[in-house]
Amino acid sequence: MPTAVDPHRRRKKRACVLSLRFICSLFAFSVILRLDSTMSLLKSSKVISSIGTFSPSLGVLSTRNSSWWGGVQMGPPDPILGVSEAFKRDTSPKKMNLGVGAYRDDHGKPFVLDCVRKAEALISSKQLDKEYLAIGGLGDFTKSCALLALGADSEVLKSGRNITVQTISGTGSLCIGANFLSRFHSASRDVYLPKPSWGNHTPIFRGAGMQLKAYRYYDPSTCGFDFNGALDDISKMPEKSVIMLHACAHNPTGVDPKPEQWKEIADLVKKRDLLVFFDMAYQGFASGDIDRDAWAVRHFIEQGHNIVLSQSFAKNMGLYGERVGGFTVVCNDAEEAKRVESQLKILIRPMYSNPPMNGARIAATILNTPDLYKIWLEEVHGMANRIIKMREQLAANLKSEGSTHNWQHVIDQIGMFCFTGLKPEQVERLTKEFSVYMTKDGRISMAGVTSGNVGYLAHGIHAVTK
Ligand SMILES: Cc1ncc(COP(=O)(O)O)c(C=O)c1O
Repeated sequence: MPTAVDPHRRRKKRACVLSLRFICSLFAFSVILRLDSTMSLLKSSKVISSIGTFSPSLGVLSTRNSSWWGGVQMGPPDPILGVSEAFKRDTSPKKMNLGVGAYRDDHGKPFVLDCVRKAEALISSKQLDKEYLAIGGLGDFTKSCALLALGADSEVLKSGRNITVQTISGTGSLCIGANFLSRFHSASRDVYLPKPSWGNHTPIFRGAGMQLKAYRYYDPSTCGFDFNGALDDISKMPEKSVIMLHACAHNPTGVDPKPEQWKEIADLVKKRDLLVFFDMAYQGFASGDIDRDAWAVRHFIEQGHNIVLSQSFAKNMGLYGERVGGFTVVCNDAEEAKRVESQLKILIRPMYSNPPMNGARIAATILNTPDLYKIWLEEVHGMANRIIKMREQLAANLKSEGSTHNWQHVIDQIGMFCFTGLKPEQVERLTKEFSVYMTKDGRISMAGVTSGNVGYLAHGIHAVTK
């Protein structure tokens, strides 16, 4: 039965509905206003101009998309690749790019090794398939990669207590290594880098969740190795910490310990019970002799250090863009190596599933074909020698320009890089006035210096340092 409605309650209900309607229309109006202003903002902004012609649906999409990343800040350019960008823009015919660490022939041209061309022809003639590689990479490659580093007499290889996986060049190897330590080296999170070290070491280890520390390495007063400083710092490292050592041709300084110094470092590192991470990105590139450059790695292993090792074939085979490298863990025995291998596979699988095959095939073909291996050794020797010659010529030219500074370190340093000792303002002048491009820390890639431009470089360096 219908009930009689109280007129007072009816009025109250109507007022309620009205005010609700008013609030709703206010809200709708403000949404329209906001959408409108966002659209006009987008129309005038680079978002739309970079997309091209404006379409309302795209505009809405961009509004949503741009809002996802509204908080993303512009990052700084890469310090090394940024130098190359500036170099490209320079129109001077005398310009030199000494920033990037890539070998050039004596005409300043990128150099493809003859052994690489021959290996490519051999591979092509076999009409091989393009199936996936195993997670750990190409077996022929990983075996010869470890052999190259550890040497034919290696007890580790004979007893099978290493595991070596193929990686995406040296950077990928360091990345796998850093993440492996992060997961399994629970005794310490501290990684000690030499000061200075290759710029990518810090973000690689930090990204893996390790804590970055530093030890003294370079002495600016001598442009040489700070042996005492390094020993002093190593003696204070907490036990079980990780110490990063550049196996040869230290980047960026070009300063390596001498064998006697390596021996003392190995003893002290053992006393402190540190885990050694060797980065060997330049085997053969320092002295021209692959065995000599691997001496420190082999010495540490002989002294009982179960090291981890990162290798790259970018420089010594000129396979920069092919991205060929290896990561090795030296274990206590073959059974431990199997367990470590299983975990490396678990680590790699979700990252990139399995590595690319082309570069690994090239490297494996060179390392496993006696004729090509012989050519390769000669070519590595040739590249290293050209760099050594350029060091001597640069120092000689600086002297004949009239420079009274001591440039002996230019000759004494080794490998691809020379840490000139130039100050940031001198680097800036060299770039501005002479179109010579390098990183701000005064590092130059000796591989970019040629018989044709070494005189010009010496002239520029003298002009900004006198
Ligand atoms: C010390 C060091 N480690 C590792 C790398 C890795 O290089 P890539 O990833 O090109 O093999 C480099 C390259 O410049 C390097 O100088």
